[in-house]
Amino acid sequence: MPADEILISETEIQTRLPALAAEVNAALPDGPVHIVMILKGAIIFGVDLARALMRNATLGFLAASSYGAGTESKGRVQIDTEHLGEIEGRNVLLIDDILDTGHTFAKTIDILKSKRPASLRTCVLMDKPARREVDIHADHVGFAIENHFVVGYGLDCDEAYRTLPDIRIYAPE
Ligand code: IMP
Ligand code: MG
Repeated sequence: MPADEILISETEIQTRLPALAAEVNAALPDGPVHIVMILKGAIIFGVDLARALMRNATLGFLAASSYGAGTESKGRVQIDTEHLGEIEGRNVLLIDDILDTGHTFAKTIDILKSKRPASLRTCVLMDKPARREVDIHADHVGFAIENHFVVGYGLDCDEAYRTLPDIRIYAPE
């Protein structure tokens, strides 16, 4: 199949999670946290990280979609906030699967900041710095990777491969 090559194994992911959770926990203020995940890509990483944090937490969701032709967001990002939950005055942790051009993350952060959280921290499973078009970074990064299109552990290609336990390089046949 076109996703045979494992870039990050299940063991590597599961080994990185507690260390990443400890790093995020150390940076978050004490008390309840509202964890916001960007659908759908962040969901598998997001629930694993959320459980590894072992804190008093609530969950919220944003749905991001890029419109226009092609697979690249190019800044044409639409964000659905229907299931975001209350942000104002709360300590918020934003989780996404991958930071690529940065358009989705930048727009999401703007929306969250406009709702005046008490604090906002950001965490992504993967970062592809070589692809960045917007000057933005995540506070916490699971893995920095080269410029590959990857699938698995939440990430898709046309909705396929999300439930793979590892991260693989997608190479069309
Ligand atoms: P950005 O707006 O270009 O940063 O796009 C970020 C979003 O594009 C991510 O949340 C993913 O949903 C998707 N994306 C970016 N790179 C990949 C990839 O390598 N595989 C699967 N989805 C990706
Ligand atoms: Mg996504």
